Amino acid sequence: MRRYLVQTFGCQMNVHDSRRIEEVLRGAGYAPAEGPSTADLLLFNTCSVREKAEQKLRSAVGTYKHLKAQRPELVVAVAGCVAQQEGERLLKRMPYLDVVIGPDNIPELPELVEHIRAGGPPVARTVFDEGSPRFLVARPRTDAREVTSFVTVMKGCDERCTYCIVPYTRGSERYRAADEIVSEVSGLVEGGVREVTLLGQTVNSWHPGEKESHRTPSSFARLLRRVAQEVPGLRRLRYTSPHPRHLNDALIAAHADLPVLPRHLHLPVQSGSDRLLKRMLRRYTVAEYVERVTALQAAVPGLTLSTDMIVGFPGETDADFEATLELVRQVGFVSLFGFKYSPRPYTPALKLADDVPEEVKDARLQALFALVESQQSAHLQALVGTRQQ
Ligand code: SAH
Ligand code: SF4
Ligand code: F3S
Repeated sequence: MRRYLVQTFGCQMNVHDSRRIEEVLRGAGYAPAEGPSTADLLLFNTCSVREKAEQKLRSAVGTYKHLKAQRPELVVAVAGCVAQQEGERLLKRMPYLDVVIGPDNIPELPELVEHIRAGGPPVARTVFDEGSPRFLVARPRTDAREVTSFVTVMKGCDERCTYCIVPYTRGSERYRAADEIVSEVSGLVEGGVREVTLLGQTVNSWHPGEKESHRTPSSFARLLRRVAQEVPGLRRLRYTSPHPRHLNDALIAAHADLPVLPRHLHLPVQSGSDRLLKRMLRRYTVAEYVERVTALQAAVPGLTLSTDMIVGFPGETDADFEATLELVRQVGFVSLFGFKYSPRPYTPALKLADDVPEEVKDARLQALFALVESQQSAHLQALVGTRQQ
């Protein structure tokens, strides 16, 4: 029996893809390898959202180079966003790679591995399924060990924030049919899953049809209501990542009405400066963000928020960063993912000089983390002695 080893580098979407990759392989008769030395297929599922993606991949693949020398029949594959972004070019730069495969081509993996094992040349398959999007369904669980699961509701991203590579590595937005989503959640819950996280790059822009005319502001809220109603066994329903501009009244009302939604939302803001939000093409102002989360917290008392923040975006001044800290205080985020801006290939922000010195980026990130940690401790302290689910 063939054995595989999958190593994952990226976001939840990437983790989820790794699961689907493993399912496709198991469906083709593979079993998981105990370690690299017993694997017939080594697959690296990559991320390119921040710097050094390719270096990380090189060093990971480099660790196993000796295995390839010992066993030429070992197949080495790269999947995920670096694969999608570089395609054929990656094969040229990394001669010991056999297969480069994009996120939409996962079902073709076993076939490509056979092609290599039959002596075929290295191959790259990175074609988006824009015309007829496919969503790989999670198989019903046979072991009840896992109580949480991801379910994809949309893929791709049309926002084009100027710093971000995701629209290039994941293509344009494609939405999954509501029936399929509900039936996947329901199947998982029957298999023992208690918490589901709906996944999408701008998950709350979900709507049921391909056409712009099918889009109504309440589509995503209606999807949440449908899942809650049709899968009563589900104990908690999360979603990530929402875009602030789609946090509309219908969604806020769903939060107020549905106990299955947690009293927490991760809502990436990226900066507390309007000047920078504009340069990032985030399509909202600080005031609009604050207004939306205030309305949400009014509808769901006790709801906490976390966010993503980028420091050192081109042109970020001390005053801009001060505004970011001010927003963190004002909203009272209890947790935060902070990143130093890193210029990415193909993105519009490349035209702007990466002009904030590395030491300044470091210092700002540290200041941001220190502030959030203090808010988090205060929040946790306030919960001491209470009973929480
Ligand atoms: N679609 C999600 C996640 C995008 S990637 C969203 O829009 O929220 C996750 C995070 O990585 C982003 O929220 C952003 O904070 C960060 N990020 C993306 N590109 C980056 C870059 N070029 N440099 C630094 N951080 C970046
Ligand atoms: Fe990237 Fe912006 Fe799309 Fe998020 S919304 S994936 S940050 S382009
Ligand atoms: Fe995710 Fe990284 Fe791709 S964040 S979408 S794996 S670039």
